[in-house]
Amino acid sequence: MTASITGQDNPYIIGVPIGKPESFFGREDLFRFIQDNLKQNAKVILLHGQRRIGKSSVLLQVHNFVQLEQFLFVFVSLEGKSRKSVSGVLYEIASEILEYLEDEFELEVDGVRIPSKKDLQKEQELFSDVFLRQVFEVIGDKNLVLLLDEFDVLGEHSQDTASTHLFPYLKSLVDEQEQLFIIPVVGRRLDDMPNLLGLFHEAPNLRIGLLQKQNAERLITKPAQGVLEYEPGAIKGILELSAGHPYFTQVICFALFSKAREEGRSLITREDVENVVDKAIENGEAGLAWFY
Ligand SMILES: Nc1ncnc2c1ncn2[C@@H]1O[C@H](COP(=O)(O)OP(=O)(O)OP(=O)(O)O)[C@@H](O)[C@H]1O
Ligand SMILES: [Mg+2]
Repeated sequence: MTASITGQDNPYIIGVPIGKPESFFGREDLFRFIQDNLKQNAKVILLHGQRRIGKSSVLLQVHNFVQLEQFLFVFVSLEGKSRKSVSGVLYEIASEILEYLEDEFELEVDGVRIPSKKDLQKEQELFSDVFLRQVFEVIGDKNLVLLLDEFDVLGEHSQDTASTHLFPYLKSLVDEQEQLFIIPVVGRRLDDMPNLLGLFHEAPNLRIGLLQKQNAERLITKPAQGVLEYEPGAIKGILELSAGHPYFTQVICFALFSKAREEGRSLITREDVENVVDKAIENGEAGLAWFY
């Protein structure tokens, strides 16, 4: 049975990272990889993947799908921080950690103080000597995992001190601090980042790739379950077009849903898929532009 599609919100999400676990599909192997490596005390785990493949979404979901009581995960996006100094970036990371301690982990943080930007600039070590020390007091015997999104933007400007100093500094921090772990994610091939690979050559690394067929199928059918029905040929058609790329799958399904709603229909055929391709490309243009 399908409910009437008229007036229903389009359930497909295009562009923004997926925050709700029920809207997120696949990546079981990746979470297992992270879980196994954290358990084995890997202090750095490198992830990489092309644009729009779902890097930020994976990081946002780690706390939902990696079940490790002893680890507290803090998501930090470094987007837009490429021109910041090392001390500026450290200050932002500290602010993010403090916010998580208070809001997500509901810990008592009254006494925790972040050194001022000025002090950090003069003395970078304050980040660990003063700030991290207090953080570890608050979290007791738990470990802290920093999920660093868009880590590579720090290397974008050759003049920038973050690329030359922050990577090595973070490396020295995780080496020193038993309870500190980092999972940096980069949007380019690791081969293109010799600095990073050189520093973290021992780190396990994994590429975030296309979704497995079964998960791509769930991404197509689940969000609109009970409202839209897809003929097997339609699902096949979508998979042929998207190859299991989550963003393109969502873009196509978003367009199919809109079209079906306009026409008050609840069945999607292969022909519908073929007809909607142009519209889908138009919707996805912002994201697609990168590929040309
Ligand atoms: N696991 C997933 N389940 C469902 N949709 C996904 C998934 N991963 C990615 N998407 C789709 O891809 C889009 C982009 O995801 P996300 O922002 O996480 O990618 P990204 O690799 O961080 O992109 P960017 O390179 O722009 O930073 C989402 O809005 C969604 O449409
Ligand atoms: Mg992202």
